[in-house]
Amino acid sequence: MKLVRNPAARPLPADERARRTAAPAFGTVLTEHMVSARHDTTHGWHDARLEPYAPLSLDPATVGLHYGQVVFEGLKAFRTEDGSLAVFRPEDHARRLRESARRLMVPELPEELFLESVDALVAQDQAWLPDDPDMSLYLRPVVFASEATLALRPAHEYRYLLLACVTEGYFGRAQRPVRVWVTEEFSRAAPGGTGAAKCAGNYAAGLLAQETARAHGCDQVVWLDAAEHRWVEEMGGMNLFFVFGTGDDARLVTPPLGGTILPGVTRDSILRLAPELGLPVAEAPVSLEEWRKGCEAGEITEVFACGTAARVSPVNEVCTAETSWTVGEGTMGAVTARLSRELFAIQRGAVPDRRGWLRAVPGTVPAPAGAV
Ligand SMILES: Cc1ncc(COP(=O)(O)O)c(C=O)c1O
Repeated sequence: MKLVRNPAARPLPADERARRTAAPAFGTVLTEHMVSARHDTTHGWHDARLEPYAPLSLDPATVGLHYGQVVFEGLKAFRTEDGSLAVFRPEDHARRLRESARRLMVPELPEELFLESVDALVAQDQAWLPDDPDMSLYLRPVVFASEATLALRPAHEYRYLLLACVTEGYFGRAQRPVRVWVTEEFSRAAPGGTGAAKCAGNYAAGLLAQETARAHGCDQVVWLDAAEHRWVEEMGGMNLFFVFGTGDDARLVTPPLGGTILPGVTRDSILRLAPELGLPVAEAPVSLEEWRKGCEAGEITEVFACGTAARVSPVNEVCTAETSWTVGEGTMGAVTARLSRELFAIQRGAVPDRRGWLRAVPGTVPAPAGAV
């Protein structure tokens, strides 16, 4: 399918762009364009267009609004050392979007269309990304059921949209330590449910626990398994790693996938990267009790969260309804810092991309002189 390009006739002036991107709170500074495509049972995927960012007009009976037949992704484009832009592991995000789609009875978006849309939007709005290593373009692909009907069945019509926003990271510019709230009251995902899919409803269902976390002065909620509320699973929008030991004896453990955890692309990157840096890593269950006792005994020395938006963020304090404890020294530990640095270097093309994780975006060039 040919993606038609209809960019804005009059782009926003550079000084207005600079004003908007000066201090972008996560998710608020959207760029000037978007990609849109449609799917129906007769034509399959069609009508792919790059066009100016604009509100949609939706029928009030749109299925996605009523029954949550919505899947999405989150991936990033970085300005690399040579000034051009590259996207981190887009093929893996395309695959996860297809897997999420299968779970929600949404038609799968072909990888080719996913990649073409990413290339087109990043190339079109490249000037939005300031020449600042702490900033990136967060890309948000979403597919929603657009048919107008109140019938409860898989819809016959869908829209694909791709948006981009300028971001410094979910927790802001500095990778400050994160204080987490472990909920023993709510569950995110049960066996057989949608935990492994990136679908809208998972996030709506997590908001109450997330707000409870905030009310307790915490940044993020940690989810436990739904059956026993004993095993650590993940956080609201990121996966978790535990560091046991220090120095040459340090090793990593992350909870195993198994249908209730989102298979993070960053998680997978750390799983592959760590052994290359001499850090053994295992996918094994960690209980809440083991987390507490491990920290108290000094066996668990660091814990970090990782995700596309959150990058690699140290967890320094853990709170439950009954108790709280500090992880390690309460600051960014050496292992977390090293992994964060290594991953970031790969993403920015500062070290050779031996794993084929970066997709260079054709037509992107160094930021114009004077860009902020
Ligand atoms: C629930 C959840 N877990 C983990 C992650 C981390 O996944 P990734 O590293 O692919 O961004 C995300 C973010 O997409 C998420 O929403």
